[in-house]
Amino acid sequence: MCGIVGYVGTKSAQEVVVDGLRRLEYRGYDSAGVALVADGAIASAKKAGKLANLENELAALPLPASGTGIGHTRWATHGAPNDINAHPHVSRSGRVALVHNGIIENFAALRTELEADGLTMTSETDTEVVAQLLGREVDGGADIAEALRTVCRRLEGAFTIVAVDAQAPGRVVAARRNSPLVVGLGEGENFLGSDVAAFISHTREAVELGQDQMVEITADDWQVTDFDGNPATTKRYHVDWDLSAAQKDGFDWFMRKEIHEQPRALADTLLGRYAEDGSLTLDEIRIAVSELRSIQRIVIIGCGTAHYAGMVAKYAIEHWTRIPCEVELASEFRYRDPIVGPQTLVVAISQSGETADTLMAIRYAQEQGSKVLAICNTNGSTIPRESNAVIYTHAGPEIGVASTKGFLTQVLACYLLGLYLAQVKNTKFGDEIAAVMSELESMPDKVQQVLDAQQQVLGLAAEFSDNPSVLFLGRHAGYPVALEGALKLKELAYIHAEGFAAGELKHGPIAVIDQDLPVFVVVPPRGRDMLHDKTVSNIQEIRARGARTIVLAEADDQTVAPYADVLIGLPKVSTLLQPLVATVPLQIFACELATVKGHDVDQPRNLAKSVTVE
Ligand code: F6R
Repeated sequence: MCGIVGYVGTKSAQEVVVDGLRRLEYRGYDSAGVALVADGAIASAKKAGKLANLENELAALPLPASGTGIGHTRWATHGAPNDINAHPHVSRSGRVALVHNGIIENFAALRTELEADGLTMTSETDTEVVAQLLGREVDGGADIAEALRTVCRRLEGAFTIVAVDAQAPGRVVAARRNSPLVVGLGEGENFLGSDVAAFISHTREAVELGQDQMVEITADDWQVTDFDGNPATTKRYHVDWDLSAAQKDGFDWFMRKEIHEQPRALADTLLGRYAEDGSLTLDEIRIAVSELRSIQRIVIIGCGTAHYAGMVAKYAIEHWTRIPCEVELASEFRYRDPIVGPQTLVVAISQSGETADTLMAIRYAQEQGSKVLAICNTNGSTIPRESNAVIYTHAGPEIGVASTKGFLTQVLACYLLGLYLAQVKNTKFGDEIAAVMSELESMPDKVQQVLDAQQQVLGLAAEFSDNPSVLFLGRHAGYPVALEGALKLKELAYIHAEGFAAGELKHGPIAVIDQDLPVFVVVPPRGRDMLHDKTVSNIQEIRARGARTIVLAEADDQTVAPYADVLIGLPKVSTLLQPLVATVPLQIFACELATVKGHDVDQPRNLAKSVTVE
């Protein structure tokens, strides 16, 4: 939520910052702004709406040349998305400008204090309070870095703050708590960003900042301290993807490109998972084997699509390991006083590694003595850094707001974890694990087959563009696939969509079925006859009530064909792995339906990638 950029160097700060904002716009697009230090003053511009509005403004009224600047693209929390509430916010004297991501929880008290001091706020934001506090410190004689430390010690909540002082050209200061910030290291220039996409066109050398740390960058130097000014330890890393991965490559949407990248993302996530003796190895797992053997329970947490990935994984993990596995919304977890302890492994799934609900949940779990294993796609992000172990999904940057390759690789990483635990706990023989691994290795090709046959799904989207509601049904591992299909449609096409367990149909949802309702049904492979046959019965029940049935089943499944208005053929896979192929047509359908409806697929309304506030 909110994208932040900072730059010091010899290039045009305006160009570097706006370029960075373009790559971070997926984090929020309610408004955008930039502030530069030029000729002993702050020069700034900000505009409500997408970045293009700011770019038009800057084209008409360019800011003075400068090598020091900050920028922001906003997802509104406090105050409407208008020009006044847009960042940067400038202190009353005009000396300090800052941008902020997060929520200052004690902002009301701070605002009252500032108002008592004679300051009138011009915006409705919590951010302006920080700008005025910082301005007051600097006007009182404090150095900008010292002033930021002083202010941060008073703030409660979540924040990344990046600030400049008109009288300190060539310096940008920043601080973070519960909100992301990375430093990019260039030659004679340095960068700040909410994530590395902000500066990937300039450098792939990055530094992660820890909790309650502050950084000051100049063109040639960078210094990290805690909020008391003590030097802090940091981790430097090389980003393993480049600019081309963050571009659309001829696709109309990042989402469509990311759907097509899934075979490669799966293949990359599978790389390097074998030890020399042929056993499965997960190098990043830093939890001792003896501890893993003592695990009595697994709790998977995540939000949205990541939560559904956990729901898919539960079936496989329990089946392979016989360890009871629960799946819970991270946003609910810590508020219900959950029973977790040293013998519970908490698995936190997060593409971004920054989702605030998930982050708070893992901290809670650790306080209760649980070990936390993160499944994450973003190197250097907070959730893997604070976890005891991590399995990275190697999907590359996911820029479309709706998660696609993130989901598939999360499911795959969970499978790897399940197989690894089965190996450690001896609940599966080596050859059984090898057989599943071999099937997993065939999945990139099978997903490619689904992509190659997408024309039928693309056609469906045009046909259903006026439908106000769509239902998705599935059983077993197909149930979370149905939930994911419905979520994709809601967030992209803005229509009512619901996912249900097919077995629940007769317990209520069947009442909504009539001839106007399209119903997608995910049919399990025929290997598990009972599951398969019961789902086919459900389809007959739906058909009997006049609904149109769009059935996702094995391509040669003749038993289902008579009841399907449309049969979307899937490759043959085992039941537990079917979500990897069955989800893909639903992603394509949602992407295409939103395109047909003229929506912005990559930046759906009201949403932002990376939800860094609770
Ligand atoms: C839906 C979607 C969201 C995210 C959720 C968690 O398409 O993208 O539901 O899955 O916000 O995000 P991460 O995985 O970054 O924690």
